[in-house]
Amino acid sequence: MTVPRKVVAGNWKMNHGPEEAREFPLGLNIGDNVTAHVLLFPPALALAGLRAGLESAGLAQRVHLGVQNVHAEDSGAFTGEISAPMAAAAGARYVLVGHSERRHVFGETDGDTLQKVAAVLRSGLTPVLCVGEKLGEREADRVEEVILRQLDAVLGSDTIRSKVASGDAPFLLAYEPVWAIGTGRTATPDDASAAHQALRNHLVERLGSSVGRAVPILYGGSVKPDNAGELMEAPEVDGVLVGGASLDPDGFSRIIQAA
Ligand code: 13P
Repeated sequence: MTVPRKVVAGNWKMNHGPEEAREFPLGLNIGDNVTAHVLLFPPALALAGLRAGLESAGLAQRVHLGVQNVHAEDSGAFTGEISAPMAAAAGARYVLVGHSERRHVFGETDGDTLQKVAAVLRSGLTPVLCVGEKLGEREADRVEEVILRQLDAVLGSDTIRSKVASGDAPFLLAYEPVWAIGTGRTATPDDASAAHQALRNHLVERLGSSVGRAVPILYGGSVKPDNAGELMEAPEVDGVLVGGASLDPDGFSRIIQAA
């Protein structure tokens, strides 16, 4: 695994176009003392602008880029979609797969996430697989069942599992409880740790101890500058995936500094 632990990732969702993306790096404050591995997932149309802005600000080596979604096929008659090879050619290294909005707003299934992770790995990109339970599932005490099912939908594939277990294909996981996304209601560090511990045990079981322990598990859901530090200190929380608070370069910089 080449991805260092303590990852701070920003998912802009459908916010910030090319011009805003180009200007964003001017407001970032990533000093030499910062050790976090920083990732940004702008809208695909803003990737080139963000890349240019990072280069002018001298931050191209400090902030790594990804896209929020890809289609499972490499090319074809799929109006409105983008593919993993295109994302790679545009400078992306990471791809979010199975984000809760993809699952619950756009109806993506576990089967879709499997196909998409396969496409991402085929293109030499790194998937960030997102898992998380809905409020009703938490209240029914089904957190582990849901998140481990979502993880197994991908690691159940012999091809993917052996590729990741060999250590050749970096893989990241993000635990994002659906009830905490965009609601201002954050999981407590204890709740996050409990879910991450279940995921960690499962990763070790499926991938072996060395790779299973090295896969970074990020927490996402209403992470802000004032709660990021305590969440990242919680056992098994290797970083954060930030939505709304990543849109403001100053706030995002404060989260990076808290890592
Ligand atoms: P918020 O930080 O806005 O709750 O979004 C979290 C998220 O979905 C990141 O992928």
